Amino acid sequence: MSARDGQAAVRAWFPTLIYAQRLQARGLQALNRELLDECYRIRDHDVNGQAWSEGNYPLGYTSYGSLDQLHRFSSTFDALRERIDGHVAAFAKALDWDLRGGRLQMTDCWANIMPRGCAHSFHIHPQAVVSGTYYVQTPKDCSGLKFEDPRLSKLMAAPPRRARAAEAHRAHIVYPAKAGNVVLFESWLRHEVPASAVDEDRVSISFNYHWI
Ligand code: NI
Repeated sequence: MSARDGQAAVRAWFPTLIYAQRLQARGLQALNRELLDECYRIRDHDVNGQAWSEGNYPLGYTSYGSLDQLHRFSSTFDALRERIDGHVAAFAKALDWDLRGGRLQMTDCWANIMPRGCAHSFHIHPQAVVSGTYYVQTPKDCSGLKFEDPRLSKLMAAPPRRARAAEAHRAHIVYPAKAGNVVLFESWLRHEVPASAVDEDRVSISFNYHWI
């Protein structure tokens, strides 16, 4: 401790915020059953999405390339959207965002079904401001959501960090996927879902919010 004014000599600035919370206190099981059922029905009817997934989401199914506004077509997804809106507002507050009379609106919402071996490599969500995922079905030992330190490309000649470095100092952090949880992050933050190593499907719903 201490150099001046009783403050530590080294302090942390410019944090990268990630939000994780239960969607709601009650009724998650029933909601997830309903969402799970809809996700599979959507997949089974979405011939274009199945074809898109074959080329872009090997082994799995995503409606990202075909039905990416599920909150506009399904009352179940719209009810989910309404719940997530509240979490996004809390996240925006934590970020100290001044929306200047505008608002944050869900623009895209799509379903993801990941069987064994399906992965989604590192990416960002261009044009959006907040992105996130809601977990519907998360079998034991399924892959989490892995985030990368956004400064990684600037590190140049910096030494690597110790294997046992404090979590906040590591180059990556994995958020376990947990049914009923919503995870939010700023859309520029690179993230990936490593390949699933379990037989049962990992099912999630991803979304983007724009500032309009
Ligand atoms: Ni993503």
